Amino acid sequence: MADSMEKIADVAFSTSDLRAVEQAKSMGPWQQRCMLGEGAFTPGIWASWDIAKVLDAGFPAGFWEGKRVLDIGANCGGLSVELVRRGATVHAAEPYEPYRQKIEWLRGTLGIPEERLSISGDALFDIRPEETSHMDVVLFLGLAYHFRYPQLVLDYVGQFDADHFVVSTQCIEGESDFLQNRSDITPQYLGDQPLLGWHATRPLFLKMLEWAGMSDPRLIEHPHVNRGGAKTTTNNAYFIADRGKPVDHLVEMTRFI
Ligand SMILES: C[S@@+](CC[C@H](N)C(=O)[O-])C[C@H]1O[C@@H](n2cnc3c(N)ncnc32)[C@H](O)[C@@H]1O
Repeated sequence: MADSMEKIADVAFSTSDLRAVEQAKSMGPWQQRCMLGEGAFTPGIWASWDIAKVLDAGFPAGFWEGKRVLDIGANCGGLSVELVRRGATVHAAEPYEPYRQKIEWLRGTLGIPEERLSISGDALFDIRPEETSHMDVVLFLGLAYHFRYPQLVLDYVGQFDADHFVVSTQCIEGESDFLQNRSDITPQYLGDQPLLGWHATRPLFLKMLEWAGMSDPRLIEHPHVNRGGAKTTTNNAYFIADRGKPVDHLVEMTRFI
C-alpha cells in the first residue's frame, strides 16, 4: 500500500480532516478503500486509487476530463470519486444500501456537487439501455462472475449507448476457453453459504466480450493486475472494448455456440 503515502494535497475534492476518517470507521464495513485526502483513508480492502490507475492505463493521458461515466455496481464509491477528481461526471449505481450510503457520505464530505456525482440504487437490470442517455464510458467492474449467466449480462451491458466499455473480472490462468466456478478454486463463504461465481481464462473472456457485440476487446496491461499483480485492486483482469454492434440478450440466450 505504498501509494497510501502519495502527496495528494492538490487533488480536487479531498479533506485531511481526521474526523472524517473516524466517521468513516464508524459506518460499518467498506469494500473499496477510498482516499479522502493526504494521509486520510476510509477502511476497505480494494484501493480505489489503484483501480483508477489501471483504468488510466487503458486510455490516453487526460482522457477522463469532461467524460460521462456510468459506474454499475459502484460499491462504496471510491472509483467514482477518483474519476470525478480526474474531471469526469459520474453516475454511480449501487443497489446495496449500506454501500450506497457511503457514496452519499463521500460526496457530502468531499464537497462534490450532485451534478458531478449522481447516485441511484439501481441494479443492473433496473438500468434500461434504451432509456439511458449517451455515456462515454460504461464501467462494469467486478460483476460478471457473480451472475448466474455471465454471457447474458455482458450481452445486456453491450446494449448501452457508450463509446467504451470497461469490464473487470476474476480470471484463471490458461490459454484455453475455460470457465471454472470459484467454489472450485479458493472456497470462500458468506456466512455458511459457499460463494459461487464463474471465472474465465483471459482468452475466453475476450471472446465473451466480442459475442456481446463489443468491438476490439483488449486486456489492460498494468503492474497492479494480471500475472504478478499487486492484488490491491478488486479483480485480476481489466478489459476495454469499444462500441460495436449490440446484440439482443434475449435472442442470444437461445443461440447455439
Ligand atoms: C465485487 S463488488 C465490485 C464493486 C466495484 N465495481 C469494484 O470493481 O470495485 C460487486 C458490487 O456489485 C453490487 N451489486 C450486487 N448486485 C448487483 C446487481 N444486480 N446489479 C449491480 N450491482 C450489483 C454489490 O453491492 C457490490 O457493490
